Amino acid sequence: MAQMTTKDYMHRESKYGAHNYHPLPVVLEKGKGVFVWDVEGKRYFDFLAAYSAVNQGHCHPKIVEALTAQAQKLALTSRAFYNNVLGEWEQYMTDLFGYDKMLPMNSGAEADETALKLTRKWAYKVKGIPKNQAKIIVCNGNFHGRTITIISMSSDPDAYNDYGPYTPGFINIPYNDIEALEHALQDSNVAGFLVEPIQAEAGVYVPEEGFLKKASELCKKYNVLFIADEVQTGIGRTGKMLACEHENVRPDILILGKAISGGMFPVSCVLADDEIMLTIKPGEHGSTYGGNPIAGKVAMAALNVILDEGLVGNSMRMGEIFRNEMRSIKSEMIETVRGKGLLNAVAIKPVKGKSAWDICLGMKENGIIAKPTHEHIIRFTPPLVITESQLMEAIGLIKKTFSEFGF
Ligand SMILES: Cc1ncc(COP(=O)(O)O)c(C=O)c1O
Repeated sequence: MAQMTTKDYMHRESKYGAHNYHPLPVVLEKGKGVFVWDVEGKRYFDFLAAYSAVNQGHCHPKIVEALTAQAQKLALTSRAFYNNVLGEWEQYMTDLFGYDKMLPMNSGAEADETALKLTRKWAYKVKGIPKNQAKIIVCNGNFHGRTITIISMSSDPDAYNDYGPYTPGFINIPYNDIEALEHALQDSNVAGFLVEPIQAEAGVYVPEEGFLKKASELCKKYNVLFIADEVQTGIGRTGKMLACEHENVRPDILILGKAISGGMFPVSCVLADDEIMLTIKPGEHGSTYGGNPIAGKVAMAALNVILDEGLVGNSMRMGEIFRNEMRSIKSEMIETVRGKGLLNAVAIKPVKGKSAWDICLGMKENGIIAKPTHEHIIRFTPPLVITESQLMEAIGLIKKTFSEFGF
């Protein structure tokens, strides 16, 4: 049989798979560190890192070792029985992040759902909100995943259109708006405020300095839980282990996913103290795969890589260089450059019909892959293992691409 080409692979996916994504036309088959290779053997810098799941770089040997060793021993028990890894992982996580308890799930959306359920339980059992009256404040522009309840909080028509009826109980306010938050907090049935410390999917919107701090203080004042969705911003991505650390904020509920497994396995979790976590009793929440031994071993290995290799500091340093270099590019198409650590975006102004998508196609030709978010914004989030010389080489490819467009 003749060797399949990029077009053949794309055609097969399109024919047999649902059309719920619009991928860049590149078919990947191998990854190592900051690089991926396509089926034709071409190498690319990966500047998406699977939406910040692969912070530790592709196929990190220590994470692969943890995965394969545990997979050969015991993969899944369900929570009907104890396993000898889960407690070790829970202790590791609660020590590292400073909470009483962890609840393991698999995807980011599930961890967000778990946080919403915990908030409602706490509302009725601790705060004393009348039955079925609890409300949670969320921000316009949010992205917390794809479940019906989560898209019910979304302000993006692509996310919620034609999926109604929607889950009630949410109050939407503008992001980065302290006055709107304080106004919404006047409702005594409010139980929580769910927020991304930086809105990544929306286009890497960094709130004003002090917003998170003030928001968490207001939540305390009104006896409302401050819930941070750090699924994308966490695990070193923004130059701190958690993005909330930039403002010394400790969320009441912390939601983690993506990079806690280094992209090796779907792992997510929620961390909180006993007053919140113990409101959920046996049989009231769970997941068949949540807390499986592979997830535990993989997550501990992935977090050890972050700590042992100093990836948090590297993210901070490389991020500074990246933004400075992007700001030095002379192109009419570059509107703004923003971000923190290695979570960055370049907002693109279309010129002569050329858009962010065209820039991404051009970069792909030059050996670097990234993807537009919301049409006019390109997100740049390489693995945090990127070295300065690799970063400078990649920046050279981005500059070359902009110069080829000639404006
Ligand atoms: C902040 C945030 N929360 C939740 C999610 C959902 O995670 P998952 O795709 O694993 O369900 C994402 C995914 O991009 C995210 O960025």
